[in-house]
Amino acid sequence: MEFTPENKKKIEEILKRYPEGKVGRQAALLPVLRLAQEQFGYLSEEAMLTVAQVLDLSPASIYGVATFYTLFNKKPVGKYHLQVCANLSCCMEGAEKVVKHLEEKLGIVPGETTADNRFTLSEVECLAACGTGPVIQVNENYHEKIKTPEDVDRLLEKLR
Ligand code: FES
Repeated sequence: MEFTPENKKKIEEILKRYPEGKVGRQAALLPVLRLAQEQFGYLSEEAMLTVAQVLDLSPASIYGVATFYTLFNKKPVGKYHLQVCANLSCCMEGAEKVVKHLEEKLGIVPGETTADNRFTLSEVECLAACGTGPVIQVNENYHEKIKTPEDVDRLLEKLR
């Protein structure tokens, strides 16, 4: 498994933003992991090893960072990855009901993907939009104030 020539160039550009040496390579880790996820679809162990080789960092350090952030997928996800914030502010605004409704509509529970690979449902930690919860991140986009079953239905309709 290796990066495309285009992504290798992007990694060179990313590395130029940081000081030379291990500290710079560590600083480049997050954008390089994002690039890896973009290219490989998710961060498999093999993809993490590729990142470790490219940045000359230990596989353990790559694994530690990749598994800490929920924005990195450690297994394949559907076309639309619905990440519902399950933290305090969003829960107080009804995030649990939102998850329940999504479970009923999609026939899956958090951590699962629909049989047609269209939707993956996850519960995640704070998405840093606490004032406008409940928040659902769909791939790279935020959908805020998704409070009612109707809000959820409208969102799913937009995605279908
Ligand atoms: S608690 Fe949901 S975005 Fe912060």
